[in-house]
Amino acid sequence: MAGPGGIKVLLVIGGGIAAYKSCELVRLIRRNGGEVSCVLTDGGAQFVTPMTLAALSGNPVHTTLWDLKNEVEMGHIQLSREADLVVVCPATANMLAKMAAGIADDLATTLLLATDKPVMAVPAMNVRMWTHAAVQANVATLRERGVAVIDPDEGAMACGEYGPGRLPEPEAIWGAIAAWAAGDARPFAAPSVEPAREEAQGGLGGLIASLIPRGKAKPSDTAGPLLAGKGAASASLHDISDDHAPARSFAFRFEGTPLSGKHVLVTAGPTHEPIDPVRYIANRSSGRQGFAIAAAAAAAGARVTLVAGPVTLDTPPGVTRVDVQTAREMADAVRESLPADVAVMTAAVADWRAADMRGQKMKKRSSAPPALRLEENPDILATLGTSDRRPALLIGFAAETEDVIENAIAKRERKRADWIVANDVSGPVGASVMGGADNRVHLVSEGGVETWPEMAKEDVAANLIERIVTAVETTSGE
Ligand code: C5P
Repeated sequence: MAGPGGIKVLLVIGGGIAAYKSCELVRLIRRNGGEVSCVLTDGGAQFVTPMTLAALSGNPVHTTLWDLKNEVEMGHIQLSREADLVVVCPATANMLAKMAAGIADDLATTLLLATDKPVMAVPAMNVRMWTHAAVQANVATLRERGVAVIDPDEGAMACGEYGPGRLPEPEAIWGAIAAWAAGDARPFAAPSVEPAREEAQGGLGGLIASLIPRGKAKPSDTAGPLLAGKGAASASLHDISDDHAPARSFAFRFEGTPLSGKHVLVTAGPTHEPIDPVRYIANRSSGRQGFAIAAAAAAAGARVTLVAGPVTLDTPPGVTRVDVQTAREMADAVRESLPADVAVMTAAVADWRAADMRGQKMKKRSSAPPALRLEENPDILATLGTSDRRPALLIGFAAETEDVIENAIAKRERKRADWIVANDVSGPVGASVMGGADNRVHLVSEGGVETWPEMAKEDVAANLIERIVTAVETTSGE
């Protein structure tokens, strides 16, 4: 599976009023680049029709175990063969009980017993049913067996009561699926009573900043289970102390999708230009700023393609990642990802590559060190700037050690970018912006130069996405 974007979901829809939300979930999975096939229970079919689900998913909908034609072509044992994940949504009390007891009396429960794929259950039911000891015991059994049971939301219910039992919003369920696909298995851990973290900051910036962990996570965060906050199927934090730390993951809670329907292309990290099989030329870059921008764009609802050089970071949820090593591979990946509405080129692309890459490791000589002949790499940003497939909004980054603003203004003209985000990367190795948690940037645009105060890279990302949202809205409103 190629990250959350390429996930294949087998969606089992149980019989509850919340079944209508599964239609929106199908749309979200597909809009984020995933594929979905649906299995509809008899109960589910009382609330949504196979026709609706077939139209939304673009796939046949399976309803019965006794469909002999399907049994020949696609037996119930094989139904989940193509899937990366089986999602039961909504999971009724009855469905949870059957799953826990191993009862297989229809297509949905039979395939759930037969599957060897990971299973996520998203319960929805009346508050008294949810809090009943029988249901809680079934949930505990399923969790023990590795089923990811997402805690329901708390709120007013269709039956007029209030409390836990509501199906989380489809965006939150997609967030949990994407977090799983991005390799964060902890949403599948036992539930927690810890409240979700809140940041005292408004707007989209505040929202995104509250979703993306910054700085070092507390040991309790890293050891802790899913933070199941209200209205959110959320993920938890990893240690992100430096480039060589375990890959980090991003926590998400989707609320509003101002970039929905837009494709945002981001490049991040360094490129490695091989000299011989063990040595390479590279710029210093952790990729953290670019990954934070990709995460923020996805949180704002964009379809995001992240072309990443060699870095040790996890793919943010909801982002399709293409890994590359060299500048030429990055240029190819960018070209293949077009068209895009917005491109943010944060990658620290190596300007040069070795003219002749050696097939064997070069040996040390007693005489003189070997000469290194260099060739220029393609300038991906400048190429995009003059391309007939130029994204409507093209943003470059400029890492400078002197005359930061002057160089950025010149770079904006030279590369035909709309904006350049310039930062001062001077300072001793290890103490500069590169690899650090914070950034101090200047936004250079046609309108002038804006200097932002020093802030976490996640906040730079959130602020930039806010600006992008405004620019995109202004352009589409013209
Ligand atoms: O020329 P300089 O490397 O300072 O330009 C920085 C900007 O250009 C960044 O946005 C970077 O991603 C982009 N760039 C590129 N291809 C290159 C060199 C830089 O896309 N070969």
